[in-house]
Amino acid sequence: MCGIVGYAGPQTPSTTSLDVLLEGLARLEYRGYDSAGVALVTPRGLASAKRAGKLERLREALAENPLPEGTVGIGHTRWATHGRPTDENAHPHLSADGQVAVIHNGIIENFHALREELLGEGVTFLSETDTEVAAHLLGRALAKVGDLTEAMRAVVARLKGAFTLLAVEAGSPDRVVGARRNSPLVVGLGDGENFLGSDVAAFISRTNRALELGQDQIVTITADSVEVTGFDGEPVVPHEYTVDWDASAAVKGGYPTFMQKEIHEQPKAVSDTLLGRLDDQGRLELDELRLDTAVLRRIKKIIVVACGTAAYAGHVAKYAIEHWCRIPVEVELAHEFRYRDPVVNEQTLVVAVSQSGETMDTLQAIRHAKDQGSKVLAIVNTHGSTIAREADAVLYTHAGPEVAVASTKAFLAQITAAYLLGLYLAQLRGNKYTDEVAGYLEELAQLPTKIQQVLDRAGEVREVARSMSDARAVLFLGRHVGYPVALEGALKLKELAYIHAEGFAAGELKHGPIALVEEGTPVFVIVPTRRRPELHAKVVSNIQEVRARGARTLVIAEEGDEAVTAFADVVFRIPETPTLMAPLLTVVPLQIFACELAAAKGLDVDQPRNLAKSVTVE
Ligand code: M6R
Repeated sequence: MCGIVGYAGPQTPSTTSLDVLLEGLARLEYRGYDSAGVALVTPRGLASAKRAGKLERLREALAENPLPEGTVGIGHTRWATHGRPTDENAHPHLSADGQVAVIHNGIIENFHALREELLGEGVTFLSETDTEVAAHLLGRALAKVGDLTEAMRAVVARLKGAFTLLAVEAGSPDRVVGARRNSPLVVGLGDGENFLGSDVAAFISRTNRALELGQDQIVTITADSVEVTGFDGEPVVPHEYTVDWDASAAVKGGYPTFMQKEIHEQPKAVSDTLLGRLDDQGRLELDELRLDTAVLRRIKKIIVVACGTAAYAGHVAKYAIEHWCRIPVEVELAHEFRYRDPVVNEQTLVVAVSQSGETMDTLQAIRHAKDQGSKVLAIVNTHGSTIAREADAVLYTHAGPEVAVASTKAFLAQITAAYLLGLYLAQLRGNKYTDEVAGYLEELAQLPTKIQQVLDRAGEVREVARSMSDARAVLFLGRHVGYPVALEGALKLKELAYIHAEGFAAGELKHGPIALVEEGTPVFVIVPTRRRPELHAKVVSNIQEVRARGARTLVIAEEGDEAVTAFADVVFRIPETPTLMAPLLTVVPLQIFACELAAAKGLDVDQPRNLAKSVTVE
């Protein structure tokens, strides 16, 4: 969840280590923004600065009290786990002798025992964090072994849990040492400079060459060298790859917020995810799937594991995959799957869905599934991420970097990729003929244009949203694939506008939730296409039921659906589309609504309170 950056390179009058670190932190701030801090190795020893709050607070502090110029350095932006977001708890943390500075992402699970041990030995703690334990241990180990890399090796042997640690020390002005266990860390290979980062955003403006680090590895960088070993000291040759997006993809491109930009990139996210999937016979080919087709023919059950928005994408996919492939599909929150006793075996395909590919709950779920003999296929947006690497097979979404904490374009790309998987399985297992698969692909191919049509009407949604900034609670109703869309609409409103919002299956209304409706309660209703009259008629009845009890109805219905007009206070129109394709359209007004309502309330749309983009702790 925290953002971590390390730098080793030359000082030039135009670019200092501090500039590079601050730029990296700005790009990583989406990972956490409770506090920020840096440490540099200077000719006068370590120099550090840290502040609670966003990176801007740190910049102000540095402007007031500039640090001496340093050679190498480390920087951190925090999402608080142990200890409140205060100056004291901000990273870096220093060893007792002030010779070592440490930053950390993750949770050191045995920190309490280690802290007690250190307290017993007379160490004074200045923060409430688990990280400070690592700083003191490292300082003490360095005093014994005299080498930062060796000291790191000794310390990680004592730590339990998930962590990425970066450290610099006053006596080594040329190096940064990092270690990773169950938490992300990548190396950026520059020209006469090298980087460490939680993800490639940390250094993408300076290089697109990166090295994947594996579990339980230690890396030492200088300006012109990178050395990687296992925790056991054995040398490792890491895999080098080229990052396929550039820095411009991660800037706002004229939009006031990343979220608005990413909402408007959705047609491209869907079309890029569909791109290049057909062979010269017109058959669907998923080349990147590294799974034997015999295995895919044998599977008897699919379980989708994911969290948050990614789980709702899985819910949508369940309707399509069961319909096309006649394979039972379960969708389970990854953290629940992990800690019950799920019935999975070698005939189960576990599909992990994750934008970041770093969500710890999802990662632990796939490890658990693999332990039970299941094959794991990951639908992931981030190349080289941990989930992508640990899964047996990967199907990449091509949404490009998603920076806003609220997921939008990744959701649409995840549904698209899961549909490709469903159609591929249907083709492979003989549930659908090639021409039927081609028909569905043709429907998918029309979606980018239709999504654009919905975006062209964003102004109508904005106007309604801006008039509702005093709403205290909003309900969302949907049926069939509209149900997960209702859940997603409610999640977007909660996380962005801090408004109590609930999504319900419309059929469940009379079983309890309708009691929440009172005079003026805003209720969004996602109306199914008229191509499914049995679903459509029921939802139109649901609109009437809530309206009869005083609800203000905000209806999402396809163009030409006049059956809803009499019962809708507001109608947002979407182009006509087959039932299974509709979520890719109906969710868009809900994203815009949440974004605009939050903006009307003066809230930070890209960095909502208490959240972080990647949840890399359990
Ligand atoms: O990176 P992931 O897709 O694994 O993230 C999963 C959830 O944490 C994420 O979708 C979260 O719910 C978003 N904030 C929703 O907007």
